[in-house]
Amino acid sequence: MGIHDEDLQRVKIETDLAGVVSQYVALRKVGQRWSGLCPFHTEKTPSFSVNAEEGFFYCFGCQKTGDAITFVREVEHLDFVGAVEWLANRLGIAIRYTDASDGTARKERQELTELLEKAADFYHQTLRSGSSAGKVRSYLRGRGFDSETVEQFRIGYAPDAWDALASHLDVPASKLEAAGLGRAGQRGGPIDFFRDRVMFPVSDTNGAVVGFGGRMLPEGQQPKYKNTPQTRLYDKSKVLYGLHMAKKHVVEADEIVVCEGYTDVVGCFRAGIPRAVATCGTALTDDHLKLMTRFAKRIVIAFDADGAGKAAADRFYEWEDRHNAEVFVAAIPEGADPGELAEENPAALMNAVASAEPFLSYRISRVLDKSDLDRVEGRARAAANAGAIIAEHPNEVVRDQYLVEVAQKVRVDIEQMRRLVVKPVPAQRQPVSPIDSASDDSVSGEGYEQQEIPQAEMNLLRALVHHSETVTPLTLPSMFSNQLAVDAYHLVTTDGWRDQIDNTSTAVTTLVGRALVEEVDADPIELVSRALDAVIHRWNMELRYDVTEIEQLREHQPMVQWLAQRQEEMHSDDTRTAAVEAVVGWLRSQQTVNATDETTD
Ligand code: CTP
Ligand code: MN
Repeated sequence: MGIHDEDLQRVKIETDLAGVVSQYVALRKVGQRWSGLCPFHTEKTPSFSVNAEEGFFYCFGCQKTGDAITFVREVEHLDFVGAVEWLANRLGIAIRYTDASDGTARKERQELTELLEKAADFYHQTLRSGSSAGKVRSYLRGRGFDSETVEQFRIGYAPDAWDALASHLDVPASKLEAAGLGRAGQRGGPIDFFRDRVMFPVSDTNGAVVGFGGRMLPEGQQPKYKNTPQTRLYDKSKVLYGLHMAKKHVVEADEIVVCEGYTDVVGCFRAGIPRAVATCGTALTDDHLKLMTRFAKRIVIAFDADGAGKAAADRFYEWEDRHNAEVFVAAIPEGADPGELAEENPAALMNAVASAEPFLSYRISRVLDKSDLDRVEGRARAAANAGAIIAEHPNEVVRDQYLVEVAQKVRVDIEQMRRLVVKPVPAQRQPVSPIDSASDDSVSGEGYEQQEIPQAEMNLLRALVHHSETVTPLTLPSMFSNQLAVDAYHLVTTDGWRDQIDNTSTAVTTLVGRALVEEVDADPIELVSRALDAVIHRWNMELRYDVTEIEQLREHQPMVQWLAQRQEEMHSDDTRTAAVEAVVGWLRSQQTVNATDETTD
């Protein structure tokens, strides 16, 4: 769904970033920019900086950067459209959607949401006071669900009738079906989807109900759970039960606990772990991971004892790599799930989560625990099994460390152990172009070895960003000695680049974001001249290094002298501009020379 470009631009132009940020942190004017405590990381001295004119922010502490849309996405945990709507709402701008049907689609979604909210209320009220719900209340009480818990999770009861909800809502069957709440019955009238079940409402991140999980009663109808089918609002591979309540605790702890079931989440909350969520009757998906890592990087898997072991290892490693996440596993005792453990021994659940191990470490521990390490054969089998598990990890350094540890435990020679760890084929990494990387949420700094940008080059980037018209014609990629800076150069000299840097995590965007909030206090041409100064210096040094024959040196002498003169002129205000242009011309010709050199080689 897209927003009309005109409206998007209007929102961007009319938004005053300093005003938006001020809703979250106090800002103080420092020079031309605003400064305050960073809302994205904990700090005591302000390193968060806002360039109100350009509408960009940058944190010198955590390097987060972006425009107002990025800011709202991050603090309010919204998607792009959501963030634009949020800003538009604040400005009183009515947004139009690119496709007329988008507006209609929105309206329809709204209608569905209202139906689902009404249904949640209906089920909840039925549980609390319905005459038919007595047995359900005592069942839940027996499981330790007190009224506070029922309240907090809006747990409900779907009566044992064909159309209790349908007649309460009194809407056409087509609407019920679209919401996943019912369908047309054989006799024409609409009938309910959930009957005689304990109802767990599932909400989106903002707390709007999107579906339900319905658990059967002890004597009720199989299957144990019935879940809302896929609807326009409900996609089980994208939703996490409990996240809307857990999210603030998740962000605070920078840790999220993932369970398998609704009752596990309830148990975790009751046991004092309010940062728990669950998938809804499906295995973890890439979308789940993406969603979780928006709130925390440390993911603790709290499945029952078999569940975690069975979880797809290669996907976890891939996710750790791709989403910059760390996957840990809480050791839930055999035969229990977190929900049960929460009732029987909340301290043990708390402890299992607190002492969660990295995924690989957890799997090795389980192999070793099950082996008979007192016997030679047992140790040999343990070595082979652990070796196979270690081999799955894509990182050589990680593999090596575990290998050494296991070798010691199973008393096997390290070299022998190494032979048991068969190296997997390394995953292919695509090089990222600056524009691609701006829309890629992968690890920041990926692929850049040296991160230090020389001062002169940093200043040149600033000048490029703030005085693009003057500086762009005078700047060439060869004026940057560092790949990261070159990529930043390519980004900021691309048309419409400001619209491309909404995403915040790559090294290039970080660098550009920093350049955006740093004022240019010198004449831009002078900044170009200083960068050229450094280029000439480098050229001289290389010449001395490459050319050892005195004859050849003499050949280059006129060029050396010519450059020295230009350097001299660049130091004076009157002659600077012409000298800069001359040196840039020379540099450009150098580039073509080099290019032909390479092709003839
Ligand atoms: N589930 C499902 N369909 C089933 C069984 C399970 O969708 N037929 C999903 C539900 O989301 C459930 C989760 O898998 O919450 C875990 O299942 P299970 O451990 O069997 O149920 P619990 O949530 O532990 O429920 P309870 O504690 O009431 O047994
Ligand atoms: Mn259970």
